[in-house]
This record gives sequence, C-alpha cells and structure tokens, in this order.
Amino acid sequence: MAELAVIPLTVPDLRGREMAYLRECVDDNWVSSAGPFVTEMETRMAEVAGRRFAVATANGTMAIQLSLLGLGIGPGDYVIVPDWTFAATANAVYHAGATPYFVDVDRDSWTLDPVQVERLLSDTQRKIAAIIAVDALGQTADYDRICAAAGDIPVISDAAGAIGARYKAHPAGGLGTCATFSFNGNKTVTAGGGGMVVTDDEALGTQIRHLSTQARVGQEYEHDAIGLNCRMTNVNAAIGCAQLERLGEMVAAKRAIAKRYDECVASYSAIETMPRMPWAESSYWLYSLKLKDSNAAQSLLKCFTEHRIQARTFWRSLSQQPPYRDAPATSIEVSRSLSGTIISLPCSSQLSDGEQSRVLDALTTWMAISA
Ligand SMILES: Cc1ncc(COP(=O)(O)O)c(C=O)c1O
Repeated sequence: MAELAVIPLTVPDLRGREMAYLRECVDDNWVSSAGPFVTEMETRMAEVAGRRFAVATANGTMAIQLSLLGLGIGPGDYVIVPDWTFAATANAVYHAGATPYFVDVDRDSWTLDPVQVERLLSDTQRKIAAIIAVDALGQTADYDRICAAAGDIPVISDAAGAIGARYKAHPAGGLGTCATFSFNGNKTVTAGGGGMVVTDDEALGTQIRHLSTQARVGQEYEHDAIGLNCRMTNVNAAIGCAQLERLGEMVAAKRAIAKRYDECVASYSAIETMPRMPWAESSYWLYSLKLKDSNAAQSLLKCFTEHRIQARTFWRSLSQQPPYRDAPATSIEVSRSLSGTIISLPCSSQLSDGEQSRVLDALTTWMAISA
C-alpha cells in the first residue's frame, strides 16, 4: 500500500492570480520596490484595516521596528511587550534601541493582560514609551481596555497573523496608534515575505515611509535621519495583491476548519480549544489546542508524527530565554503555562475535507488512549 502523504502544518494557498501578476512584473520590468503592485497593496491594506494610510515593508519585523522609530522611540525607553509572543516583537524593540518590558498575557484570551498593563503603568518608575499588543494566533487583543490603560502612551497593534479577524466592530489592525502585519509564507495572506504598517496618523505614516527608504530627501543623496532599506518589492506585492483578492474566501475556509476541530475536542475536558472572546472574531490564522501539560503535548505530537501529520508546539515565554533575561518582566504565570503546552494543527486554507478527517482521526485516536 502506498504511504500516506504528509499533511503540512500550513502552506501558502496560491490558487488565485499570483502567476498572472508575477508575469506582469517581468513583462513590465518592475521587480523592485518602485513598482505599481506595492502601491496597490498599500491601498488594499488600508481598506482591509479601515485605516487612512499604509506603508509596505520587507517583513512584519521591520514594520514593528519602523513603527517604533517613527514614534521616536529609542535608547532609554521601555516598551511593553507580551511575554507570550513571537521573538520578532521583542527583537524589533531591541533593534530600535529600546528595551522590552515583558508583561503577562490574560488566562482567557492568551493576549496582553490589560490589568497587568494598568498595574505596571501606575507602579513603575521606568519610562514606558509604547505598548505593543499582539493578536495571538489570529485573535485580537482587548484594545478598548489596553488603549484606556495606555492613556497618551502610543499603542502598536502587532496584527502579524490576524488579517481578517475583528475586534468588536473593527477589523484587525484598525485600532491603536498604528498596526503592523506580516505576509510571511505561513500567514493566511502571504507575499512570499513582506509586512505593512497601517495608521490614521498622516505624519507618522509619512515618517515611517521616509525611514524605510534610507531617509532620503528628494532625488539627491541627502538624508535627514539614519534610515533603513526595507520596502516591499513589486514581486512580493504582486503575490500579496493576488492573495488579498481571496482574503474573505481564505478566512472563511480557516474558520470552517476551526469549527470542525473545535467540535471534535468539545467533549474532551483535558484539551482546551483556542480562546473565543466575546469581543473578538478570530481569523484562526493558526488553529491550536492547549494540552494539560508538556508531557501530554509531546505525546500528542508523537501521535501526529506517526500519522504523518505535521503539528508543533507554539511560542514560549520570552523572558525565560537567555537573550531576553536581562529585560524587566512582571510575573508571567500564564505565559509559562502556555509555553510548551499549545499544539498547532494543520490549518491551511486549502486543507481538503479528507485531510481534515485524517487530522481528526489522529486526534480521536490519541484522545481515546489518553483518556
Ligand atoms: C506576532 C508576530 N509578530 C511579528 C512577526 C514577524 O513577521 P515577519 O516574519 O514577517 O518578520 C510574526 C511572524 O510570524 C509574528 O507572529
């Protein structure tokens, strides 16, 4: 009998006009960051996030770093970062010259805990210059409460993987001083690689665009700041534009997969499904389950491997890891409890019904032997 194909965790869904748009780039000789797809992608992303301005960047990490630099954040400043996020969020803070202040996530939402933010802001003597809230796994953070706690402190929404999600009436990326997205290969919408900053603040958007092109003034070699070279290219934007045309369809497919997976584990009390907060509509970027401890998580991973299904554990507490240990942190009890216990399952938007059934069969087998 032929061996079953491995089901990948997540792969790009390139079933739209990607090839046609890429061919246009070559035919028209626009492959660099000056091409028309870059502007088109900015226009579309401003619409998707309900913002006035958008600036396309080389990746999501640079989008965060540019947001911080555009806000004038640098040495001596502290930036609140959830302890449970991808390293890119904290790395961008360091590369902007500032230091992260790690804050725990909320037990129910797995996103930045507004209570801890409030407490820290009233207790600390350090200069908190910005707050980064992360939309974890496709679910938005609680922006009303975080923005209320922030007062005049800028809030950056790291919506890297949350395109298509909602917070109350707002699309992901629609709240905070500015928001950032990633179009990395594992995201719902990919550009091969790429990022975007969206904002309603024209001066901030203009400054971020300026910094992303070496802070060059006019066409001569004159510069008014230390800039970066991190614009998205036309080739990446061509893929991104084709992907955005299918955004609704791809998010709907991921929500349907999440519903099927949720139903399967509903009766099994030792597994927690992803948060469904009343104020959020998740895009289910990366469908994940919480196991009771890391042994259970490893045992489930082993079962998936035996069934030729890719699955993996998700983020780990950053403040516990050597590069970040010197940064200040609140107590991070929830972040620790999520580290090593969250398992992400295959959830690409083109995952077939048959592949979903294979994932569910493996999960059911594991639940039966672990009960
Ligand atoms: C929460 C978060 N922030 C930032 C990034 C960085 O985006 P990129 O890989 O495009 O640099 C990612 C990427 O997965 C992410 O998950």
